[in-house]
Amino acid sequence: MQISVIGSGYVGLVTGVCLADTGNHVVGVDIDARKVEDLSGGQCTIYEPGLTEMLQNNLRAGRLRFTTDLAEGVRQAEVVFIAVGTPPKADGSADLTILKNVAVELAGALDQGAIVAVKSTVPVGTCEMLEELMRRTAGHDVTVVSNPEFLKEGSAIDDFLRPDRVVIGADDPEAAEIVRQLYLPYVRNQRPILIMSRRASEMTKYAANACLATRISFINEIANICDRLGIDVNEVRTGMGTDARIGFQFLYPGCGYGGSCFPKDVQAVASFARAVGYEAELLDSVHAVNERQKNVLFDKIAQRFDGRLKGLQVALWGVAFKPNTDDIREAPALVLIDRLLEAGAKLRVHDPRALSNVKALYGEKFVISDEAYKAAEGADALVVVTEWNEFRSPDFKRLAELLKQPIIFDGRNLYDSAMMRRYGFEHYPIGRPATKSQD
Ligand SMILES: NC(=O)c1ccc[n+]([C@@H]2O[C@H](COP(=O)([O-])OP(=O)(O)OC[C@H]3O[C@@H](n4cnc5c(N)ncnc54)[C@H](O)[C@@H]3O)[C@@H](O)[C@H]2O)c1
Repeated sequence: MQISVIGSGYVGLVTGVCLADTGNHVVGVDIDARKVEDLSGGQCTIYEPGLTEMLQNNLRAGRLRFTTDLAEGVRQAEVVFIAVGTPPKADGSADLTILKNVAVELAGALDQGAIVAVKSTVPVGTCEMLEELMRRTAGHDVTVVSNPEFLKEGSAIDDFLRPDRVVIGADDPEAAEIVRQLYLPYVRNQRPILIMSRRASEMTKYAANACLATRISFINEIANICDRLGIDVNEVRTGMGTDARIGFQFLYPGCGYGGSCFPKDVQAVASFARAVGYEAELLDSVHAVNERQKNVLFDKIAQRFDGRLKGLQVALWGVAFKPNTDDIREAPALVLIDRLLEAGAKLRVHDPRALSNVKALYGEKFVISDEAYKAAEGADALVVVTEWNEFRSPDFKRLAELLKQPIIFDGRNLYDSAMMRRYGFEHYPIGRPATKSQD
């Protein structure tokens, strides 16, 4: 099929590359000329395992190209995906300005009968609103389908190629069928393609993210209570998670969730619920608990050093909001960095992939270290914020020698207390008893 994808960010780029990889002809459209130039030259603009190779293969095969010219880019398209951002406004509601601008521009460029599939995460009723907007602008019918994206950064390609399910929200059965056919190559393992109303589809995406965020805030709340009671949350988590009704996924205590989706999506549901007269108290709390959790590492550091943080040398491992991505949007590490800087601490920061984004945000405010052990050299303490694989089993002996004081604040509960004791570390995990040097 001839496909266009508007927006070549995380979702748009992965969508375009994966659709091209199964033989479709795809044009990726983006307003950012630099991004289009890089992608056209085979240079990936995000870090996602396996993406660069797939991008280059499909460019070479002539099935994929990129442009800044929307009208030209959608000229032959049978299906146009929209994957532009829907960022939060100050009141938490989703800002649909970019989406509406794209819809107006698209309306002028599309022929009668074209199908527009909205991949961006949008409040209930948005697809109807866009269809009406485009009909008025174009002077003819345009069919808008909701097709929310469930990929996870860090495993985006696998998620797209082997989804748990595909959701298509369509009030027009013919349009639903055309989009369904596009997805058939990815569900040969009997995963379902769920066809539902557009409004239910829009809600499904928010409900799924809100549910996952709720589990994270829930276990963080339990961890904070365990912390005060001197209980190991890991034991509690095992006791809970072995219940088949509960399971273990998204029940990892830590220093809060981040990224471009959970924080904004939880707030967006609460906001559009409020607009129809419902106070989503649970979701408001999920957000509030998470905001508080982003401070938990700072509070532990401040407590350990009796509030004397001025001049303290802190090594920080991991800024990306989760492993296998260079995305630092809404990352818990940013809250910690800001608070430590504000308190006068001196930072040495390392992340395996996100350092160019860190540099773009903070410039010269602290030392950026391209090597984990170099960051630890001479530091009063190490804080681990993101659970990158390479941080799971570091050379503790070397680390203990490099650090001025063998102290680790473990924001993702990566390290075992017995092991910490063996190497002589003071260890402060989340929701588990600390290991002190005299233990
Ligand atoms: N990132 C994720 O993991 C993820 C997962 C599922 C759903 N989503 C949703 O998908 C949507 C996109 O998210 P993202 O993370 O890919 O965003 P992103 O910011 O990475 O990408 C958006 C892209 O759109 C481009 N753009 C902006 N205005 C444009 C215009 N007028 N014309 C063409 N291109 C334009 C930007 O330059 C950018 O490249 C959001 O609604 C998000 O909530 C994201």
